[in-house]
Amino acid sequence: MSNREVLKAAAYSVLENAYSTYSSIKVAAAVMDRNGSIFKSINVENAGYSPTICGERNAIFTGITEGCKDFTEMVVVTDSSLVKSPCGTCRQVLSELAPELKIYFYGPNNYYHEFTIEELLPVAFTLKEEK
Ligand code: THU
Repeated sequence: MSNREVLKAAAYSVLENAYSTYSSIKVAAAVMDRNGSIFKSINVENAGYSPTICGERNAIFTGITEGCKDFTEMVVVTDSSLVKSPCGTCRQVLSELAPELKIYFYGPNNYYHEFTIEELLPVAFTLKEEK
């Protein structure tokens, strides 16, 4: 199986665990680092709305928690045809913590799209010195 297929299966394995009481939209993500470690996560909502975290950010933060730095590929899966790409907040987070990431996005009705971070957030804001 390709990395993408492994990540897709990992993401779908937790999709039902999404806590989306308010939107009823389920999203799961699985991200791989350069060593082949996989971190999976789901969106978790809250009555306070703003504490909600998306599947993409949750997966990256889980990897960061485990000491991973070099993320290479992420699969995002959702049960909603309204969700077609990562939100703006996730784009900002991914551009800092996973700039080399390739994202494979799957939705209902055979929706599939690949993204790079550069495509999602060109001219990204950063406080890092230019190389
Ligand atoms: N959501 C994600 O988890 N990822 C995305 O790419 C877009 C949106 C979540 C946040 C919220 O729980 C729900 O989907 C509706 O916005």
